[in-house]
Amino acid sequence: MESWIAQRRALEGSRHWVNRAGRRSRWRKLPFKILMALFKRSIRLTPFYGWGRRNALDIKLIQFDLAFPDLPAPLDGYRILHVSDPHLDRLPELVDAARALLVGLKVDMLTLTGDIRGDDRAPVERSAGLLKEALAGVSVRGPRLAVLGNHDPVEMVGALERVGFDVLINRSLIVRHEGDSLRVTGLDDVNCFYTESARTALDTHAGEFRIALVHSPEVADDADETGYSLYLCGHTHGGQICLPGGRPIITHLKRFKHAASGLWRQGHMIGYTSCGLGVSDLPVRFNTRGEVAVITLRRNTSSLRSGPSQFGLVGGRMKKLKIRASRDAKALGPSTTLADL
Ligand SMILES: [Fe+2]
Repeated sequence: MESWIAQRRALEGSRHWVNRAGRRSRWRKLPFKILMALFKRSIRLTPFYGWGRRNALDIKLIQFDLAFPDLPAPLDGYRILHVSDPHLDRLPELVDAARALLVGLKVDMLTLTGDIRGDDRAPVERSAGLLKEALAGVSVRGPRLAVLGNHDPVEMVGALERVGFDVLINRSLIVRHEGDSLRVTGLDDVNCFYTESARTALDTHAGEFRIALVHSPEVADDADETGYSLYLCGHTHGGQICLPGGRPIITHLKRFKHAASGLWRQGHMIGYTSCGLGVSDLPVRFNTRGEVAVITLRRNTSSLRSGPSQFGLVGGRMKKLKIRASRDAKALGPSTTLADL
């Protein structure tokens, strides 16, 4: 942990961000930041600002099943609440909206895939405290697991631990459930703070049913190649400001841009990219909604009998689920398998 802290702090203070594709200068984002500042000033003077804020507060709860041939039988029906990108210091009114949406929810595991903070000057304790308030009505039977996003500094680890999360930094946790177990591996942010430790944290295991928690989809190929079955992430906010039809203008992805929202597959692995609970920079959304997801794991015994070859993979390339524009539980059907993706 000490060596990770030193390495992360060095990256946080450097002139570069690092992801799986290599280094990039922070200066390259300057034109985008200037444009965003101008856009921010002008939209505030228009009715679009109020409209966009109302959209940002109109969050939804998505519930769907995912079926896996390698899921141990005791884990059939295991419920995971997936929250990503709360950024609640950017739009604190979301706390009440999220609490009302989630009150009374019962799950086996809570997963948080980063970007707890929105404003880089906001105290980490405030961002984590707002999240605790938002989730106050949720009953979690098992672990509460979190990873950091690109907006979260080293200090966010302690802040999250103080509100009850176990923060996975390039390490795994074995979760026991009714006599069986699954492995959850969480990585540090791979969009800006990628290190080789993130990749090696994925490839040192074998045997268990494995879930990867990563802030962005950008190491999905590594996770698939090392045998993960499910990959949960966020980072993109589903575009946050999208064209009609939900097509994102900006995804903030350097790799796997086609996994910007919803369900996708990579090889033998199913991935889910959350549109995020909150907003970054501008507290508005257009043509996309904030969300939290409840994913129920199902054991797909027919796939088990037929073997993985029935999935009909196309050269191991990721493919978007066709129902991307209609992302509610009913559209997904009672149980989605790799064969449906
Ligand atoms: Fe984010």
